[in-house]
Amino acid sequence: MNLGFFASHDGSNMQAIIDACKSGVLQARPSVVISNNSNSGAIERAKNERIPYYHLSSKSHTSPETLDIAVLSILQLHRVDIVILAGYMKKLGQNTLSHYKNRVLNIHPALLPKFGGKGMYGQKVHEAVLEAGETKTGVSIHIVDEEYDTGPVIAQAKVSVMPGDTVTTLSKRVLEKEHMFFIETLQAILRGDIDLSVYL
Ligand code: GRF
Repeated sequence: MNLGFFASHDGSNMQAIIDACKSGVLQARPSVVISNNSNSGAIERAKNERIPYYHLSSKSHTSPETLDIAVLSILQLHRVDIVILAGYMKKLGQNTLSHYKNRVLNIHPALLPKFGGKGMYGQKVHEAVLEAGETKTGVSIHIVDEEYDTGPVIAQAKVSVMPGDTVTTLSKRVLEKEHMFFIETLQAILRGDIDLSVYL
């Protein structure tokens, strides 16, 4: 299973998956990294890991259509089977989404459908969870469609909100869970315990 990553910032989820591939915990191959941010940690990590990487954005491609075509041809060039959005702040184009219809996965740091959608990203998610007085939050992995955070959820893991939690303590606990849970979910896909073909 060849994995293609999209990441805009640090890329710690991507790194956790790369490490799992390297140690043999996950029978998959990180094939390519695409980032819209040339200064991202994700690009730095790709360089360190000697994984082919590309900076593609509205700066490199002024029209969304040509960007979409470039993205799809890079994924195909690197024979990507599963696309992983790991902190990617942009939407994918229609050509890419149609070609990889049930094979684009996103990770979200809350229990969708709660605390998702446009504007719900990064620390804002954890702020909202704390403001709502939730005692449980978690991690959702879902199939990506045309909107933000609305595609079918394929796996969820709960994380407790502790009394006295701040955005910093809560986001750290959730991120640690994300790292493990993304790997576990990919393992379940490889074993066939999660069947992506039902989402075609
Ligand atoms: C994670 O919290 C993920 O759920 C969200 O963006 C963050 C990315 O973190 N979509 P990182 O770049 O993997 O460290």
